[in-house]
Amino acid sequence: SLVPMTELLKKAQQGHYAVGAFNCNNMEIVQAIVAAAEAEKSPVIIQASQGAIKYAGIEYISTLTQLAAEKASVPVALHLDHGTSFAQVVQCVRNGFSSVMIDGSKLPLEENIALTNKVIEVAHSIGVSVEAELGKIGGTEDDISVSERDTLFTDPSDAERFVREAKVDALAIAIGTAHGQYKGVPKLDFERLKEIRKRVDTPIVLHGSSGVPEEAIREAISLGVCKVNIDTNIREAFVAAARQVMEQNPNEIDPRKMLGPAREATIAIIRGKIQIFGSSGKA
Ligand code: G3H
Ligand code: 13P
Ligand code: ZN
Ligand code: NA
Repeated sequence: SLVPMTELLKKAQQGHYAVGAFNCNNMEIVQAIVAAAEAEKSPVIIQASQGAIKYAGIEYISTLTQLAAEKASVPVALHLDHGTSFAQVVQCVRNGFSSVMIDGSKLPLEENIALTNKVIEVAHSIGVSVEAELGKIGGTEDDISVSERDTLFTDPSDAERFVREAKVDALAIAIGTAHGQYKGVPKLDFERLKEIRKRVDTPIVLHGSSGVPEEAIREAISLGVCKVNIDTNIREAFVAAARQVMEQNPNEIDPRKMLGPAREATIAIIRGKIQIFGSSGKA
């Protein structure tokens, strides 16, 4: 059955590796995530955004992932990615999600803490783990000025206060990553990450990790990141493989001939990520 992230991330923290959290939107991607984790003997987090839930339907997401978890020989968590309301969290918990993210990063600090605590109260009472976010993960601008960094990126003393007042299982931080494709090469603020880790014992989450150079990912993990989120690289691999079939065989009408290779390509990219994150063999 689906497991919360709590134990997976604690073990990752102790073992100095990270667990991959991969976004799913359809059956083929769910199958690919679990197949990759099994091939690597790695724990894995399947996550669904509000957009994914809207697209696939929450029953499909929860039923597909529960089936995948039952058949799998590795631990599988099902996590809500960037939930923005209490109602969304409750809907996920009712539908069997084993973990939720409440993203109150747009709110003032006190309101973010209050909303997160409201989620923790219901989630923890039934063994569901909770991730929160502090700081603005976003803008794909190449160069962020020092003053912009201080307003956008996670403030270490705010982070210390946040985890003292809201006992989350994981904390997403902003240190220079962005969702989607980057225009240039992202530069992560490792000094800030070090400072946060000094003050915060909670497992740290890196969002926007597609497009971040492998060495930077490894460094972030060595400095305390225990969960690494990947969506865009899955989309790229999936669509490139499907597109190749369509271009090479424009008369093909069997969806399986496109989605099958797309699923295989997705397995391959996820296996590569799991190897970088260091969670192979940790199941
Ligand atoms: O955080 C963003 C994830 O990549 C999900 O994206 O909202 O388009 O599903 P989405
Ligand atoms: P990327 O799409 O940049 O991999 O970010 C994924 C993410 O952070 C999901 O929450
Ligand atoms: Zn994210
Ligand atoms: Na990214």
